[in-house]
Order: sequence, then C-alpha cells, then structure tokens
Amino acid sequence: MKFFIDTAVLNEIKKAADYGVLDGVTTNPSLMAKVGIKGREAILKHYKDICELVPGNVSAEVISTDFEGMMKEAHELAAIDPKIVVKVPFIGDGVKAIKALSDEGIRTNCTLIFQPMQAVIAAKAGASYVSPFIGRLDDIATDGMQLIRDLTLIFKNYNFQTEILVASVRHPMHMVEAAKAGAHVATIPFAVIEQLFKHPLTDSGLTKFLADYEASQK
Ligand code: G3P
Repeated sequence: MKFFIDTAVLNEIKKAADYGVLDGVTTNPSLMAKVGIKGREAILKHYKDICELVPGNVSAEVISTDFEGMMKEAHELAAIDPKIVVKVPFIGDGVKAIKALSDEGIRTNCTLIFQPMQAVIAAKAGASYVSPFIGRLDDIATDGMQLIRDLTLIFKNYNFQTEILVASVRHPMHMVEAAKAGAHVATIPFAVIEQLFKHPLTDSGLTKFLADYEASQK
C-alpha cells in the first residue's frame, strides 16, 4: 500500500518524506486554507514548493464547478510540475473533465467519493485515483471501510487500472483495515503518521535492551 500524506503544511511533508517511505501528497482547499495561503499566485507557488519536497505525486484540487472552469484550472495546475495530479470533485461536470483530461494524458484524482458507483463512474471516465472519504462516512454512523472493501472487489472484477486512494483517515486502525482490504493508497494526516511510529511495547522494549546493555558494561 502506498502512503500519501494529507496536508499542505511544508514541514509536515518534509518530516514525513525524511522517513523515506512517503509516496505522495494530497491536499484540498480546506487544507490549503489552513496553511493561510492567500491569492492564486501564492497557491500555485505553494504547490510547486510541495512538489520539490516529495518524490511521488501531489494532488492539487480545482475550485471551479463547471467544465470549462475545471479544464482551465486543470491545465494551470498540471503546468506547475509533472508530479501534479488534478483533483476533481465527483459532480457531473467533474466526470466530464476527468474524461477530457484523461484523453489528454493528464492524471486526475476524483474526490468526495461516498458510494461505490461514484467510484466506478470516475474509473470509467479514466481517473487515475478515486478518493473515498471513510472518516466522514464513519462520522454519520456508516461503515466507511465497507466502501473500501466493496471497491477493491468491484475494481478487481472489472480490472480497473484506477487506484483506490483511502482518504479521510482518522486513526491507525483505518490504515490496518485499508491494507487488509487491499487498497492501493492511503492518504494520512501527519498526526496519524506520528501515531504509526509509536508503539508502547517497542519503546519499553528498547528502553530495557539499552538498560541491559549498560548494565553488562559495568
Ligand atoms: O483530503 C481529503 C480527505 O482526506 C479529508 O479528510 O478529515 O477532512 O474528512 P477529512
């Protein structure tokens, strides 16, 4: 399973990339706003800065909701860096844009997926990734992980090349279950990455090993 980080904060991306196991970055307009970036030029520059930090690809989302606007933005975003994957919401014009961009060879990530057929439609349109938001489904008492299980089965049935990118990850068990379900990618908030690097038995085991070593040297 590939690991993407779900943030627009540069020092979080750098820290995660330094571990050497980061495969990419996802952002969305809320994450960009959280960093406090104002103005179109500054936003485009920030995407470029993110691209400089990671070896893999970087999802950058369009703001337009009409076909022409999305296409214009997609071209602008794709021109920033070859690592850019254009993130497009699952709406009618979004699906049309995914198809047109895919025909042009521009990679896309179809976002705001909550139902299996949305993902199937996006895959048929040629999306490189679909982003099912599991945490937001859990939030409304619906089993988000069941969507991932359904999608891995359906995509296998039809040999879709589109990758299932598990989004809205809230805790390490989401990662375990996503891996068990066979998801291609999970995008992880920095706080969850930190949780994945902590286990009390690893920490106490290491403390004991080091104490025993010290004692043996006296
Ligand atoms: O990047 C999209 C997704 O991961 C958002 O997560 O926590 O806002 O539901 P969240």
